[in-house]
Amino acid sequence: MFTLLEAQNLVEKHIESISIPDAPSELYEPVKYVLSLGGKRIRPALVILACDLFSGAVESALFPAVAIEIFHNFTLLHDDIMDRSELRRGSPTVHVKYNENVAILSGDVMSIMASRLINRSPGVVLNTVHDVFTKTAMQVCEGQQLDMNFEERLTVSEDEYLTMIELKTAVLIAASLKIGAILGGSSQKDAEDLYEFGRNLGIAFQLQDDLLDTYGDPAVMGKKLGTDIVDNKKTFLMIQALGKSSPSQKEELIRWLTTKDYNREEKIKGVTSIFNTLNIKKITEKRIKDFYEISLANLERLNRPDDRKAELYNFASYLKTRIK
Ligand code: IPE
Ligand code: IPE
Ligand code: MG
Ligand code: MG
Ligand code: MG
Repeated sequence: MFTLLEAQNLVEKHIESISIPDAPSELYEPVKYVLSLGGKRIRPALVILACDLFSGAVESALFPAVAIEIFHNFTLLHDDIMDRSELRRGSPTVHVKYNENVAILSGDVMSIMASRLINRSPGVVLNTVHDVFTKTAMQVCEGQQLDMNFEERLTVSEDEYLTMIELKTAVLIAASLKIGAILGGSSQKDAEDLYEFGRNLGIAFQLQDDLLDTYGDPAVMGKKLGTDIVDNKKTFLMIQALGKSSPSQKEELIRWLTTKDYNREEKIKGVTSIFNTLNIKKITEKRIKDFYEISLANLERLNRPDDRKAELYNFASYLKTRIK
């Protein structure tokens, strides 16, 4: 059986062994660049761990696992253009290091590479895996569009927010587990139970990502702090703040959300200080804990021996305490 670390290492080696064309270098070099910057590799590791829950034959899961990681990296290239982010994994984002057109096209080719790697799933499960993958990929795009739509709105409900993060983030984590399970020969019911675990864990993961964007350590995260505030993202933090603020605080928040002429650092400081007054960090941490606990209950229900599930419990606690 694999530990999380072993699964991550296995995936890393396999990513290095994937052959990526050399020419035109303007297209493929950024692909190699972003893949070489590391990243936590949690999604492909989940494919391996889920497969390993049902069978020891994880080799069949390697290509689909790498496919999902490459798909995830594609979404990051485009996300960083959309979010005007300059730093990713401690290095310049692709559109900053090269240019926007390069980031668009290298992203496109990664998405196609991902499809080709999914096609290397064993024939008996290929249709099912492909179907889960393409459905999920569409949902991620839907979530990303909602995220952009919400930038332009002043009121977004908590439910709308939860739907958005479920689509942009949670479903890919859930699908990684489901695809791993299918590759391992699980029953439909077990695959669905794992999906549900991943969905709730994925929601906790994005809530934590929102929290880290304001309260994380930028040196550890490898991203710039405060990007969500600058972009007027309707994060869980912002939605809570808008809901809990006094009339004068709300007026100030709305001023920050609508003014076109501002100093980046002042905006981050102004909004963060309202978050601080309203105890938004605590409120968010509580909500993360709630989703995390729901996910653990999902895992408990999964009909596999406890010793087999141990690594997924470890994984959940690793995500719970993640700082990057
Ligand atoms: C970043 O994902 C994008 C989100 C869904 C929040 P990760 O935090 O998994 O990024 P890497 O792959 O480890 O860099
Ligand atoms: C990213 O959400 C979700 C996807 C890439 C699909 P964020 O925009 O919050 O991710 P980071 O913070 O840039 O990593
Ligand atoms: Mg984004
Ligand atoms: Mg982003
Ligand atoms: Mg973020």
